Amino acid sequence: MKEKTFILLKPDAVKRKLIGKIIKRFEDRGFEIVEMKMLTLSREMAEEFYKIHKGKEFYERLIEFMTSGRIVVMVVEGENAISAVRKMIGKTNPAEAEPGTIRGDFALSTPDNIIHASDSKESVEREIKMFFGD
Ligand code: PPS
Repeated sequence: MKEKTFILLKPDAVKRKLIGKIIKRFEDRGFEIVEMKMLTLSREMAEEFYKIHKGKEFYERLIEFMTSGRIVVMVVEGENAISAVRKMIGKTNPAEAEPGTIRGDFALSTPDNIIHASDSKESVEREIKMFFGD
């Protein structure tokens, strides 16, 4: 089933010049990039993006990190994109992420875990709308 998902390369990915390497993994897998842009998140946008985590112990650190530099957002399309991309990015805590996954190969800690990808149809819709409109 062909579907779209939303991917965000976090400020550490941009600072460490990993954009090309990460995009290559998705293209090599067969996904098509159908939308993409670079921007810096305002505090308001970061808070909206992570609103379900407000109040958690890591929330402030996460917002500060996510507004600390440029990010890249994109929409990719392909077979079972939501679950396949989540598998490719690996576990949230990079210390537990399997080698071969993006976090398992490029990160060691949070919040600088390189990449975000939507985890459900609902979050794909919400996140694409936030960055690319309807
Ligand atoms: S939870 O509590 O299980 O719902 O959280 P989780 O889904 O694992 O993570 C939610 C987002 O917060 C980031 N995160 C963290 N940031 C900073 N410090 C710590 N300890 C931390 N733990 C989780 C995590 O990367 C998730 O953001 P995304 O953008 O999805 O990666």
